[in-house]
Amino acid sequence: MELLSPRRIQLSIFPIVVLLSTIAWSASAANSANNTFLHCLINHSDPSHPITPAIFTPNNASFSSVLDAYVRNLRFNTSTTRKPFLIITALHASHIQASIICAQTYKLQMKIRSGGHNYEGVSYVAEVPFFILDMFNLRTIEVDIANETAWVEAGATLGEVYYGIANKSKIHGFPAGVCPTVGVGGHISGGGYGNMMRKYGLSVDNVVDAQMVDVQGRLLDRKSMGEDLFWAITGGGGSSFGVVLAYKLKLVRVPEIVTVFQVSRTLEQNATDIVYSWQHVAPTIDNNLFIRLILDVVNGTQNGTKTVRASFVAQYLGDSKSLVSLLNEKFPLLGLKQSDCIETSWLRSVLFWTNINITTPVEVLLDRQPQSHVNFLKRKSDYVQKPISKEGFKGIWEKMIELEDTLFQFNPYGGRMAEIPSTEKPFPHRAGNLWKLQYQANWNQPGKEVTDHYINLTRKLHKYMTPFVSKNPREAFYNYQDLDLGINHNGKNSYPEGRVYGEEYFKDNFNRLVEIKTKVDPDNFFRNEQSIPTLPNLKS
Ligand SMILES: Cc1cc2nc3c(=O)[nH]c(=O)nc-3n(C[C@H](O)[C@H](O)[C@H](O)COP(=O)(O)OP(=O)(O)OC[C@H]3O[C@@H](n4cnc5c(N)ncnc54)[C@H](O)[C@@H]3O)c2cc1C
Ligand SMILES: *[C@@H]1O[C@H](CO)[C@@H](O)[C@H](O)[C@H]1NC(C)=O
Ligand SMILES: *[C@@H]1O[C@H](CO)[C@@H](O)[C@H](O)[C@H]1NC(C)=O
Ligand SMILES: *[C@@H]1O[C@H](CO)[C@@H](O)[C@H](O)[C@H]1NC(C)=O
Ligand SMILES: *[C@@H]1O[C@H](CO)[C@@H](O)[C@H](O)[C@H]1NC(C)=O
Ligand SMILES: *[C@@H]1O[C@H](CO)[C@@H](O)[C@H](O)[C@H]1NC(C)=O
Ligand SMILES: *[C@@H]1O[C@H](CO)[C@@H](O)[C@H](O)[C@H]1NC(C)=O
Ligand SMILES: *[C@@H]1O[C@H](CO)[C@@H](O)[C@H](O)[C@H]1NC(C)=O
Ligand SMILES: *[C@@H]1O[C@H](CO)[C@@H](O)[C@H](O)[C@H]1NC(C)=O
Ligand SMILES: *[C@@H]1O[C@H](CO)[C@@H](O)[C@H](O)[C@H]1NC(C)=O
Ligand SMILES: *[C@@H]1O[C@H](CO)[C@@H](O)[C@H](O)[C@H]1NC(C)=O
Ligand SMILES: *[C@@H]1O[C@H](CO)[C@@H](O)[C@H](O)[C@H]1NC(C)=O
Repeated sequence: MELLSPRRIQLSIFPIVVLLSTIAWSASAANSANNTFLHCLINHSDPSHPITPAIFTPNNASFSSVLDAYVRNLRFNTSTTRKPFLIITALHASHIQASIICAQTYKLQMKIRSGGHNYEGVSYVAEVPFFILDMFNLRTIEVDIANETAWVEAGATLGEVYYGIANKSKIHGFPAGVCPTVGVGGHISGGGYGNMMRKYGLSVDNVVDAQMVDVQGRLLDRKSMGEDLFWAITGGGGSSFGVVLAYKLKLVRVPEIVTVFQVSRTLEQNATDIVYSWQHVAPTIDNNLFIRLILDVVNGTQNGTKTVRASFVAQYLGDSKSLVSLLNEKFPLLGLKQSDCIETSWLRSVLFWTNINITTPVEVLLDRQPQSHVNFLKRKSDYVQKPISKEGFKGIWEKMIELEDTLFQFNPYGGRMAEIPSTEKPFPHRAGNLWKLQYQANWNQPGKEVTDHYINLTRKLHKYMTPFVSKNPREAFYNYQDLDLGINHNGKNSYPEGRVYGEEYFKDNFNRLVEIKTKVDPDNFFRNEQSIPTLPNLKS
C-alpha cells in the first residue's frame, strides 16, 4: 500500500453554512438530508475514488449487516437501539474529508467507528439522528523493522497489528491491549494499554506520528497539526478532535520466548493472604512481569456455599525458569510451579490472553469477528492508591458473594508507568497508582429488567468500593467508557457537563484538552456523550 500523503489531497476550506438549522436534531433531518447530503458527499470526494460504493442507506440490503458487524455489546443491538440513517464505510481519505465537510453543512451528527469496542456503544449509537463514519476498510499496516516503526491505519485491529509485526520480526512487539479485535482508532486515541505496560508504558507512550483529518477537512500529520493536537489525540480520545487515519508506532523489543501463566486460588486456599501480598508485589516487581488479578464468585467445596476465586494471569518477558525463581523469592505465597508456566512466542501469548488455545494457527488473530461469544456487558473503573487491609478485603468478599454476578479485574501499575510524568499524555493516572480496577458484568439475556439488574450490580459494587479508591476526583480510565459518570448534551455551553466526567478521566490534563478543543473545533462539531467540551463561546 501507499500511505496517504498529507499533501496529496487538498480540499478547500468549506464555510460552515447554517442551513437547515431549524430542523437539525429532529427526525426529519435524516430524510430531508438524505438526497442533498448524498450529493454533497459526492461533490466533495475525489472523483478518482468514488464515494458511492462506500455509502449504505437503510434501503440497502447490507445495511444491517454492515451496522452489526462491529457491535461488540449486545445492549446496543436491540430493536429499540437508535440506528444511523447512513453508514459511510470510507475507502479513501477523501471520503472522510467529504463526510466532515458535508455533515457540518447539513448540521448532522457524525459518529466515528473503528473497531466498535466502545463499552457504551458511543461509536455507533446516538440520541439524535446521526450517521456513522466507519473506518474498517482503512486498515493497512506497514512495518519498518530497520527503523523499528510501523504505520497502522485506524481501522486495523490489534490482532492485525501484532500479526503484522511478528510477521516481520520475532523480537519486536507493541504494548497495546490484549483483545485482538479491538480497533486501533479508538484504542490508541483513548490511551489503550496492555500487558507490557509496566515495561513500556501505554500504547500512546510509543506513538511517534499520526495522520488525521480535522474539522476543516485538512489531512494533517504530526508536524502540520502541531504538538498540542498530537498530544490530544494520543490519549484524549480521537472523537473530540478529528478523524484519526493512522498512527506511526515505535515498536518495542520482546524476547523470542515469553512466559505466561494462570493460577487460581479460592478463599479456602488462602486467597485473602495471597491477594494481600499481590498488592505489594505486583506494582513493584521486575518491570518484565505483569500479573493481572481477576476476582470472581464460584461455588465453594461445601454444597450450596459460595467463595471468591482469585486468578493470577501473568505475562513475563523472559523464560519460565527465571520467572519461577523470581516469584519464589518475591511472591512465595502464590506457590508458582514450573508446570504452571507456558513458554511461547510473544505473538502466541496474545492467544493465551484472549482465551484461545495457543496451539491454534496465529492467523486466527486476523479474524475480525471475536472468537468468544459477544455478550451484553457493562464496565466501570477505579484507581487504587493505598493497599487494602485484610479486613477491607474480607468486606469486599462478602459484598461480592452477596451480589454474585460481577467480577473485578485488577491491573497493576508501577514500573515505567510511574516514571512517565502525568502531563506527558492526556492519560493522567501515573505515579502513585498501585492498580486500576475494572468492574465487569456480562450477561446473555436481552430485556430492560435484566439489563438494569446487571448494571445495578456494577453500580452497587462501585459504591461499596468508595473508601478504597481514589477521591477528589474519583479517577476513571477513559477507554473504559462509563456513561454513569455523566453525559454531555452538547448544548450551547458544553463545559459544565463536560467537566464532571472530564476531570475523572483526565484530572489536571482536562483543562489543556479543553483549550486545544476550543482552538481546533470551536463549534464542537466532533462531539459525543462524553467528548471534550469547548469553552463557552464569548461571542454569542
Ligand atoms: C473485549 C474488549 C477488550 C478490551 N481490552 C482492552 C485492553 O486490553 N486495554 C485497553 O486499554 N482497553 C481495552 N478495551 C477498551 C478499548 O480499548 C476501547 O473501547 C477502545 O476505545 C476501542 O476502540 P475501537 O476502535 O475498537 O472502538 P470504537 O467503538 O470504534 O471507538 C471508540 C471511541 O473512539 C472513537 N474513534 C474510533 N475510531 C476513531 C478514529 N479513527 N478517529 C477518531 N475517533 C475514533 C469513537 O468515536 C469512540 O468514541 C477493551 C474493550 C473490549 C470490548
Ligand atoms: C431518501 O429517503 C427516501 C425516504 O426515506 C427514500 O425513499 C430514498 O430512497 C432516499 N434517497 C436516497 C438517495 O437514499
Ligand atoms: C454539487 O455540485 C454542483 C455543481 O458543482 C452544484 O450545482 C450542487 O449544488 C452541489 N450540490 C450539493 C448538494 O452540494
Ligand atoms: C446496496 O445494495 C445493492 C444490492 O442490494 C448492492 O448492489 C449495492 O452495491 C449496495 N450498495 C453499496 C454501497 O454497497
Ligand atoms: C444483532 O441483532 C441482529 C438482528 O437481531 C442479529 O442478526 C445479529 O446476529 C446480532 N448480533 C450479534 C453479535 O449477536
Ligand atoms: C528509516 O526512515 C527514514 C525516514 O522515513 C527513511 O528515510 C529510511 O530509509 C529508513 N531507514 C531504513 C533502514 O529503512
Ligand atoms: C507473513 O505473512 C504471509 C502472508 O500472510 C505468510 O505467507 C508468511 O508466511 C508470513 N511470514 C511469517 C514469518 O510469519
Ligand atoms: C493456607 O495457609 C495455612 C497457614 O499459613 C497453611 O497451613 C495452609 O497449608 C495453606 N493452605 C493452602 C491451600 O495453601
Ligand atoms: C452435594 O450434593 C450432591 C447431591 O445433591 C451429593 O451427591 C454430594 O455428595 C454433595 N456433596 C457434598 C460435599 O456434600
Ligand atoms: C454451583 O452450585 C449450584 C448449586 O448450588 C449448581 O446448580 C451449579 O451448577 C454449580 N456451578 C458450578 C459451576 O459447578
Ligand atoms: C489445545 O489444543 C491441543 C491440540 O488440539 C490440545 O491437545 C490441547 O489439549 C488444547 N489445550 C487446551 C488447554 O484446551
Ligand atoms: C436498579 O436500580 C434502580 C435505582 O436504584 C431501581 O429503581 C431499579 O428498580 C433497579 N432495577 C433492577 C432491575 O434491579
